[in-house]
Amino acid sequence: MIETVTELSRLRAIVGGWKREGLRVGFVPTMGNLHAGHYSLVTLARRHADRVVSSVFVNPTQFGPNEDFTRYPRTPEADTSGLEQAGCDVLWLPTVESMYPFGVELAAKVHVPGVSALLEGAHRPGHFDGVCTVVSRLFNQVQPDMAAFGRKDYQQLAVIRQMVADLAFPIEIVGGDIVREDDGLAMSSRNQYLTADTRPQAAVIRRVLLGMRDASLAGTPRAQVEAEGAARLQAAGFQVDYAVVRLPDLGEPGEGAGGARVALVAARLGNTRLIDNIEF
Ligand code: PAF
Repeated sequence: MIETVTELSRLRAIVGGWKREGLRVGFVPTMGNLHAGHYSLVTLARRHADRVVSSVFVNPTQFGPNEDFTRYPRTPEADTSGLEQAGCDVLWLPTVESMYPFGVELAAKVHVPGVSALLEGAHRPGHFDGVCTVVSRLFNQVQPDMAAFGRKDYQQLAVIRQMVADLAFPIEIVGGDIVREDDGLAMSSRNQYLTADTRPQAAVIRRVLLGMRDASLAGTPRAQVEAEGAARLQAAGFQVDYAVVRLPDLGEPGEGAGGARVALVAARLGNTRLIDNIEF
């Protein structure tokens, strides 16, 4: 049976007990409204650890003023039973007051320069400060040995890895594969904002990413790959924030150089902002 914990002292007692038994603790932080992508991270954490804690916390500090914090879907009952079925041992449910005891305005913030400023950071100012601020708090609360993050949020994973290395958190960070719907749309809690009209269009992102990968591998100049990717998205009705090809560390590749790449897209269909990527 999963245990739902709302008091930090209880969480510490459970995790402390596991550690005294020599058990390895895995952690899957989430904002709830869980889907198969989240549950695959629980499965991944189970492979890397003896016990798994997952948190559900819709973190106000990572949403911009005009973003979807208030309408972000909250489905606590379904999340609890889904986590239990996925093999999670403890569901950690902090409140805003316990997460930010001095209030959000007076909260100590964690800022990771460099990688936080690119792509998502440029389009969602302050977003990664909010993510790093809450994830570092969650790490201090849960004190896991490993933590799993989805590769759909490719840049978030890169930012978290840098934070963990820089602040010397003794935590192994493991990236989980993207889980997709049958038509290729990456699973996301925000997919449910899509309407009957826009949902079929959303799968175009995956096809555009596959095209960007194939064109890159065929030697098409990067600027052309990116321009054609953005044009295909616009033609399908998206407003494009970016459609880019980057090095694995999100740096800009030199023209003609070989090696690993990642293509990343962020684009809006109506009020729904979607992100996805493909590594190659
Ligand atoms: O990826 C998410 O759901 C969130 O950014 C996270 C890591 C749970 C922090 O709030």
